[in-house]
Amino acid sequence: MYRETPHPIFLHDYQPPEFLIDRVDLAFELDPEQTMVTARLELRRNPAATRGDGTVCLHGEQLELEWIALDGHPLNPVDYRVERESLTVQRVPDRFVLETQVRIHPAHNTALEGLYQSGDMLCTQCEAEGFRRITYFLDRPDVMARYSATLIADKTRFPVLLSNGNRVASDDLDDGRHRVRWEDPFPKPSYLFALVAGDLRAVEDSFTTASGREVALQIFVEPHNLDKCDHAMRSLKKAMRWDEERFGREYDLDIFMIVAVSHFNMGAMENKGLNIFNDKFVLARPDTATDVDFDGIESVIAHEYFHNWTGNRITCRDWFQLSLKEGFTVYRDQEFTADVASRGVKRISDVRVLRSHQFTEDASPMAHPVRPDSYIEINNFYTATVYQKGAEVVRMQANLLGPEVFRRATDLYFARHDGQAVTTDDFVRCMEDASGRDLSQFRRWYEQAGTPELHIQTSYDEATRTCSLIVRQHTEPTPGQPVKAPFHLPLAIGLLGPDGRDLPLRLAGASSPDAPGTHVLELRQAVETFHFVDLPARPVPSLLRGFSAPVKLSFDCTDDDLLFLMAHDSDGFNRWDAAQTLMQRLLLNLVEDAEAGIPESFFDAFRRALRDEASDRALLAEVLTLPAESYLGEQMAVVDVDGIHRARTTLTRLIGERLRDDLLAVYRDNGESGPYAFTPEAVGRRALKNLALGYLMQAEDAEALARCQAQFAGAHNMTDVMAALRLLVDRGGLESRQALDEFYRRWSGESLVLDKWFSVQATSPREETLTQVIQLMRHPDFSLGHPNRVRSLVSAFCNLNQVRFHAADGAGYRFLADRVLELDPLNPLIASRLVKSLIRWRRFDPGRQALMRAEIARILEREDISKDVFEVASKALDAG
Ligand code: TRP
Ligand code: ZN
Repeated sequence: MYRETPHPIFLHDYQPPEFLIDRVDLAFELDPEQTMVTARLELRRNPAATRGDGTVCLHGEQLELEWIALDGHPLNPVDYRVERESLTVQRVPDRFVLETQVRIHPAHNTALEGLYQSGDMLCTQCEAEGFRRITYFLDRPDVMARYSATLIADKTRFPVLLSNGNRVASDDLDDGRHRVRWEDPFPKPSYLFALVAGDLRAVEDSFTTASGREVALQIFVEPHNLDKCDHAMRSLKKAMRWDEERFGREYDLDIFMIVAVSHFNMGAMENKGLNIFNDKFVLARPDTATDVDFDGIESVIAHEYFHNWTGNRITCRDWFQLSLKEGFTVYRDQEFTADVASRGVKRISDVRVLRSHQFTEDASPMAHPVRPDSYIEINNFYTATVYQKGAEVVRMQANLLGPEVFRRATDLYFARHDGQAVTTDDFVRCMEDASGRDLSQFRRWYEQAGTPELHIQTSYDEATRTCSLIVRQHTEPTPGQPVKAPFHLPLAIGLLGPDGRDLPLRLAGASSPDAPGTHVLELRQAVETFHFVDLPARPVPSLLRGFSAPVKLSFDCTDDDLLFLMAHDSDGFNRWDAAQTLMQRLLLNLVEDAEAGIPESFFDAFRRALRDEASDRALLAEVLTLPAESYLGEQMAVVDVDGIHRARTTLTRLIGERLRDDLLAVYRDNGESGPYAFTPEAVGRRALKNLALGYLMQAEDAEALARCQAQFAGAHNMTDVMAALRLLVDRGGLESRQALDEFYRRWSGESLVLDKWFSVQATSPREETLTQVIQLMRHPDFSLGHPNRVRSLVSAFCNLNQVRFHAADGAGYRFLADRVLELDPLNPLIASRLVKSLIRWRRFDPGRQALMRAEIARILEREDISKDVFEVASKALDAG
């Protein structure tokens, strides 16, 4: 067991810092084996502090203290105390300068927090609490300081030396080293500090801000990647313009830098003026990256750039407020993508992510509010709830206020809190002050965990020509929150007439009818009833249009209603959702009864959709995609792993057989013409074509196999190559082996492409996949020290391959626990994320439950597991 049980930190224990730091001057003598860090901190007692005992206690981990001085005088060992995670200095004045020098070891830093080595470069990752692995500091976001950084390193190994802000001086030293000094004029919390040293090249461009200032843009990469930065640079400029237009936010420094790094725990990091990225979210060429990759790059570049205002200029008071910056910034990047690509498709893909990641988290032992009230390890709370549900909570406020008032509210937020470290409550108060609305009940979205369930009963009364809706909301208990109060939420609805058009909606008692279209009802009570009058016939309701609130909706409707909505709903999201609900019904029937038939009306609807020349290809591809196995599992009382796989395979095959000619026609009509373009139109065509090919391949169509092989061999873009490879691998046999070997030969020098080679094998539903994955762990290109590679093989297998990971013999679970135990001493953040694949054990049958629990228990038995893994594993076993 854990040597000592780690203690949780509580929101209600928040205290303002006893000291503030105004200035920080850092000097680094950089070397991978050992780096010397000298820090000069100007501290003063915080006038707002509520306590203080004449000592100052700084955070610090894995630092070797070389010397320490206060106001220029070296301290005696009796004047200070060094512990495992802190440095305490006794008897300090109200204002003083503290100087320290520490030694750290970047090449041995496998956790990738603080200063570490990635390939031949050195870089930092300080969020959330990594700065304390660089120097002793008050490493909390409500301590904001002005920084300078002097970087000294060997000039041939590290010709490029970067940090936040502006480069103010540089010179060569006599010993082959050089020195560069950076100054950041904006006060910032320590988690936004960054430095990079390496032999890097930059792609350069510039941007003129709305007020006419010229900003230099630089993307730094290793020399061989210079030809993969165009898309990232284009995305950056688009994002900068969009933020000016949509939110009135201009960039504030004269230079903005992005560095692509191969070893990175997460997606990217918004350090002030010097964003550091997982190279997966920078590097792309049409032949190396798929449409999904291009899309990811555009939105992550935008996300990190947008943090400059939502996160950096205005930051979080404490880490419980993480969604203040993350939820809001995800909302902003989602809106950006909706504006520059396709709003309808974007909403669908965001809701897919929300349902598959956040709803499942809310139903798990790790369920927590958007603003959590306790944590053991903050790294465990960079979650779908904080990010994606947080974005939905901002979106609901934007929709409740309407676009003009919401813009006034965000303007107020930026004006009122610029330069401050604030709370989600401060954000909501700006929404209230700008709109005059009372959002006190709405605040429950930040406080209560769990996904609300809406049950809606509709009825139509011919005599009074009235359609009534009874809306009930209920939220299941979550750990620590047995009883939930009702939420304030917007419910967007429409009523469709017999011709499929929106009817004018008039609430009983309202004087004039609304125009036909969507009406937003605001719910506040556990049960509410609405009567719509003057309706000539029974309408078909279209509920929760655009997914107006992050809830689970159930309402009684027939398959025919769903087909009707799928064909006619004016709301694109609900057309898709109706199709998904219908397919889900058919599939769950097939799970229950393998002989259950598929009604002819379903194939007819599918065929009509395929033949509709006018429709948006991308949207059509979404509509015609069957729900994922994991999503189907969520809809069952007990996940029937094998039944779901069998049912989904069967329906895929039936579609391929029954609609063969239409699918082949769609495949041919949507072939590539001309060079690759990343436009919504071209992306949609590729998605639809490859979806059609997938159905045909499942039907074991000979022509499809020939076309798939030709596509694999001949396509010039990675989207089409990967789609074909995926299908060949899932089919198995000689063609699969040959394709994999050829792909490896062609791409073994490109790490990001090689990740795809690993994950296409890890996610195949074939019986032998786990055996294959275990073999791939021994492949010379596999390394546990490389998070992208671990994600591409281990996480891909555990999270994206329900049928093999959840094999009834528990081999998948054993495999996972072994990997967690191997990884934890190296990189606890990555290990802990893996444990999350086991925590939903209650959703499975008793046999699997026992196997999963046994593996969690085995992880907990290991002495000295990290706080990260301890928190997830112990919550998995305690809750309930
Ligand atoms: N703030 C980053 C973002 O844009 C998240 C992040 C990057 C992060 N690296 C991290 C969080 C390391 C924790 C640890 O979302
Ligand atoms: Zn972020």
